Amino acid sequence: MKVVHTIKELQSELSTHKDLYKKIGFVPTMGALHEGHASLMRKSVEDNEVTVASVFVNPTQFNDKNDLLKYPRTLEADCALLQACGVDYVFAPEIAEMYPSEDMRMFSYPPLDEVMEGKHRPGHFNGVCQIVSKLFDAVMPDRAYFGEKDFQQLAIIKKMVDDLKYPIEVIGCPIVRETDGLALSSRNARLSAEERENALNISQALYKSCTFATNHSVEDTQKMVENAITAASGLQLEYFEIVDGNSLQKIANWDETDYAVGCITVFCGDVRLIDNIRYK
Ligand code: PAF
Repeated sequence: MKVVHTIKELQSELSTHKDLYKKIGFVPTMGALHEGHASLMRKSVEDNEVTVASVFVNPTQFNDKNDLLKYPRTLEADCALLQACGVDYVFAPEIAEMYPSEDMRMFSYPPLDEVMEGKHRPGHFNGVCQIVSKLFDAVMPDRAYFGEKDFQQLAIIKKMVDDLKYPIEVIGCPIVRETDGLALSSRNARLSAEERENALNISQALYKSCTFATNHSVEDTQKMVENAITAASGLQLEYFEIVDGNSLQKIANWDETDYAVGCITVFCGDVRLIDNIRYK
């Protein structure tokens, strides 16, 4: 595995493989890697002849500067995990490499980016599209892999790829959970033992709601989850929405769609956690 820091170096390495028509898989990350990321890496290694992972904490997608400062940076441990997964190249650029000047481009994909994370984190998806498009331009992979935990991000990136006509197949990979149900996240490292215990209520409420939803309305299922989170100690619900998985718009009745997903964001202490569950 080779670690490179500049686009020029990366492209010169990849051109040898591209000349031989090798398929390139790409997994963009912000580091602080865990088993969830490892599952994306393994899928890419399985599907492609060459896998590139990027590790870059992208400043333009943080609307909360404190969150950016607190974001864990663990490149050495990340490289060990990437190597164990069989990744061929790690692209770990400095900020000036990706943003030699301010990125003035504006990405807007309404109504996908107007709801949920888009509403609560203004500018977040613009920043995600800025960096993902720059990374796509640098790597030009055949396939790119994203986790379904960031459900809205995945939908918006698919839309961007379609809009900008990138010849890249975007592949969503299932959420990886701890054995007790907690969705893996780089932010889990910031939870105290007590907060980690409290955070378990999130996935438990989502699981319960799946059974509940089989004989209750969308509205009642919504209330059930809201009440479960409000009743749990140490949790602050930001939103829970039951949406059509394609349009990301709220549904009022189960028969409005054959793809219904419940998306939740909860503060556990000052750690913001997201999760989702598919109803059908
Ligand atoms: O999901 C993430 O880790 C980030 O949003 C991404 C896609 C690497 C862009 O910075």
